[in-house]
Amino acid sequence: MADHYKGITLWFTGLSQSGKTTTAQLVGQKLRERGVDRLENLDGDLMRMGLSKGLGFSKEDRDENIRRFYLVSQLLTRNDVVTIVAAISPYREARDTARAVIGDFAEIYVKAPLQVCADRDTKGLYAKAMSGELKEFTGVSDPYEEPLNPELVLDTENATPEDNANRVLAWMEEHGYLQPVASAVADSVTA
Ligand code: ADX
Repeated sequence: MADHYKGITLWFTGLSQSGKTTTAQLVGQKLRERGVDRLENLDGDLMRMGLSKGLGFSKEDRDENIRRFYLVSQLLTRNDVVTIVAAISPYREARDTARAVIGDFAEIYVKAPLQVCADRDTKGLYAKAMSGELKEFTGVSDPYEEPLNPELVLDTENATPEDNANRVLAWMEEHGYLQPVASAVADSVTA
């Protein structure tokens, strides 16, 4: 029987352009290399084209977006899928609710100074936000509430994506999420 791992949601939060998607994708790749094949990656930009289509960026809409993220993550996680979420998720209360609902959960703060994110600006959104063309932009004209007690803080200004992804896997290892559970059950049945 193939190895089977306990479900968890790895919740990446941080500013736009902080490196959430890059880090999350690399973590997914490394987990697959380790044999974790029950894996799902839920990304903010993709969610907003699908399950959260039509939602905007008011507090109410962002809360609704995050509610959809955590309800899907809850279902996946309880079926032992390692679920990777990458969403700005700027409100602390919404992230705390996600944690409470999901249970097996790690809040991972993908941290870079606002200016560094604005300089990256691969989508040109910071320029639009700073000129006032784009309203309610996180960090510029809308709040981002930093995590108070995240399981991990990843510095994407000074550390490489590789180092940061390795830290996530090390955290999972330390907390028992990279020990196969199916073989443990099989051992106890045959003992
Ligand atoms: S969240 O606040 O509801 O968690 P989410 O992560 O889904 O946001 O979506 C953020 C993405 O939407 C950004 O990566 C960016 O491409 C785009 N975006 C468009 N308008 C905004 C805005 N006003 N604030 C933040 N991101 C925006």
